Amino acid sequence: MPLLGFGTWRLRGSAGYEAILGALQVGYRHLDTATMYGNEAEVGHALRDSGLDRGEVFITTKLPPGKAGQERKTLCASLRALGTRYVDLWLVHWPPPPRALAPVWREFLALRDEGLTRAVGVSNYSIAQIDTLIKATGAAPAVNQIPWSPAQYDEAVLEESRERGVTLEGYSPLKGTDLGHPVLTAIAEKHQVTPAQVVLRWHLEHGIAVIPKSERPERIVANFDVLSFSLDPDEVARIDRLSRR
Ligand SMILES: NC(=O)c1ccc[n+]([C@@H]2O[C@H](COP(=O)([O-])OP(=O)(O)OC[C@H]3O[C@@H](n4cnc5c(N)ncnc54)[C@H](OP(=O)(O)O)[C@@H]3O)[C@@H](O)[C@H]2O)c1
Repeated sequence: MPLLGFGTWRLRGSAGYEAILGALQVGYRHLDTATMYGNEAEVGHALRDSGLDRGEVFITTKLPPGKAGQERKTLCASLRALGTRYVDLWLVHWPPPPRALAPVWREFLALRDEGLTRAVGVSNYSIAQIDTLIKATGAAPAVNQIPWSPAQYDEAVLEESRERGVTLEGYSPLKGTDLGHPVLTAIAEKHQVTPAQVVLRWHLEHGIAVIPKSERPERIVANFDVLSFSLDPDEVARIDRLSRR
């Protein structure tokens, strides 16, 4: 999974299609969608029009809350909307009620074994909920997609995820951040980049996947342009200390 991806929540219709196609043209090779976003058709359309091979782009989609028990039907509908035979990662969008945690996860593993998705994971799960899945099936989610930003940095969650072999994927990295914070603006100035770029780069320094969304062409470009500079350990630690946890 490319650590830097493109978030697509709220990108719908022709403007959404244009933003997603623009992201692929800029170089993003990881698109994050969900049944709930109502834009899988736009993602599929942009992918086909990009001229890229299916295998070059990592696609994540998600099972909506309330669809527990309808896993196969829902994933097949996603594949039809996306116009693809498989997705790269399928996530449980939100934890179902406790008694459904393990049954939903067993269905996910079965559909992965059939090849409809290359990997399976979860979103918005606690470590305790992940442990329930591991205890029931012996299989940990490949990914847990959760809100993450400097203010939400939580070293314990990062460590406990790693111990279980779960990759953290952060969402709402920019929305959750005060981009005017003096620590971020000082580091940005030093590297001649923007505070938003510093925040995205900080995720990568931690090995955390990050999926910023934008519908503005200049931001789509800037958010991808975070591979040409790096943060030193002291800068990373200063940003970690912005955590409010
Ligand atoms: N699993 C879940 O439950 C869950 C929940 C939320 C989100 N997600 C996923 O995570 C993705 C990202 O999260 P998000 O969309 O909530 O938030 P985000 O990517 O942190 O922020 C998006 C907002 O920030 C603005 N923005 C983008 N680039 C910027 C920049 N360089 N400088 C300043 N502002 C910038 C965007 O406006 P413009 O578009 O006008 O640029 C938009 O208002 C979503 O699109 C979705 O794929 C998953």
